Amino acid sequence: MKAVVFVDTHSVRVEDVPDAELEEPTDVVVRISSSAICGTDLHMYDGRTGATPGLVIGHEPLGMIELAGSAVEMVSPGDRVVIPTHLYCGVCVNCARGLSAACLRVRPGGFGAAYGYAGMGPYRGAQAELLRVPYADANCIPVPGEPGDELEDDLVLLADAFVTGWHATELAGVFAGCTVAVFGAGTIGLLSAYSALLKGAAEVYVVDRIPERLDKAGELGATPVNYRQADPVDQIRELRRTRGLPIGEKAMSGVHIGIDAVGFQAHDRGALDEENPTQVIDDLARLINPTGKLDIVGVYAEKDLHPVPEGHPDGSLTVPWATLFSKGVSVGFGRTHDRRYTVLLRDLVLSGRARPSAVVTHHGRLDDAPQLYRAFDQRADGVIKAVLRPSQPHG
Ligand SMILES: NC(=O)c1ccc[n+]([C@@H]2O[C@H](COP(=O)([O-])OP(=O)(O)OC[C@H]3O[C@@H](n4cnc5c(N)ncnc54)[C@H](O)[C@@H]3O)[C@@H](O)[C@H]2O)c1
Ligand SMILES: [Zn+2]
Ligand SMILES: [Zn+2]
Repeated sequence: MKAVVFVDTHSVRVEDVPDAELEEPTDVVVRISSSAICGTDLHMYDGRTGATPGLVIGHEPLGMIELAGSAVEMVSPGDRVVIPTHLYCGVCVNCARGLSAACLRVRPGGFGAAYGYAGMGPYRGAQAELLRVPYADANCIPVPGEPGDELEDDLVLLADAFVTGWHATELAGVFAGCTVAVFGAGTIGLLSAYSALLKGAAEVYVVDRIPERLDKAGELGATPVNYRQADPVDQIRELRRTRGLPIGEKAMSGVHIGIDAVGFQAHDRGALDEENPTQVIDDLARLINPTGKLDIVGVYAEKDLHPVPEGHPDGSLTVPWATLFSKGVSVGFGRTHDRRYTVLLRDLVLSGRARPSAVVTHHGRLDDAPQLYRAFDQRADGVIKAVLRPSQPHG
């Protein structure tokens, strides 16, 4: 089968690799119709997280079951399924509590696993023609329709992007009428903002510096804030003042909930082409209101191979705990527990209430992966979310 493999820093290639096969009776093999590229793939592409050359990458698949092991009961060949990024057994104590990204059985010597990701278990990735899915009864979420139909892009975003955006709002406890600021207008930030709006947030601000991404935030119903123009904390406080703060609430001129959808590769606002891994947390600590919540879904790598001077190879950072303490801010972190949200969000899509595909800007065949990775990495050509279609013929 053909698959996208990591070659070296800033280099991926499409190669012929052995077909994915059934290895356990509880496995299925899925023929992939769509497989999206994620900001998380770029941490490997940028050489920051130590992927081994030859690793098949990708963790956001949608497709049709081609083969099913003898112990698989819930799904069958011919079923259309979306596969959550973080694979899980479905029955360990963490899975049973709905904390599937911390499954205790999928990663030898650790907890939690993902397809095609360095340090997240031995599983090959999904930017390929075929994918082996372990514990298939737990990991295959059935969806109606046919490959390539009008919901293809909405459904592929259920694998990771939409569930992560939703997870951000769950971690932060977004409630109707609240104010939210999302830093990062990549797919994750945009879908966090979209989820907050679906839940009835009164004001949602999205901070970035890339005009196309900020325009998309506006299209989704959020207020874009370009951090190149001025300090985004001042801009948001000013926008809130202009809208009119109630008497006695001046100290609440920031936001109740702040979401970091950027992670450790955050840009420095002073030196735009440099990184500053604490920039977003510093800004959010200033912006969040007393009693508010800070929610971090952008990745902070445990092993950063090229840390910037303010960073550390082990991911330890100096952040403004005292400000967060004095305001009584609650902080939440982490990977999305896909299993909690996939079915719920699938049904929001099927009912027509949610259309996350608004963030998809590019499609390609597997052969187009090197060029799409390059453009996405440079945040060029208007790429926000690119989706590969492995079943389309190769050029
Ligand atoms: N928690 C999870 O389960 C999970 C799942 C998927 C992705 N992620 C992570 O979420 C993050 C975002 O993913 P994505 O696909 O949207 O990536 P992306 O790279 O497309 O988006 C990141 C955005 O952040 C912006 N940015 C950089 N510095 C900034 C700053 N100082 N202030 C405001 N914006 C800034 C960039 O311009 C870019 O638009 C990544 O770290 C990714 O690894 C986490
Ligand atoms: Zn992803
Ligand atoms: Zn488990």
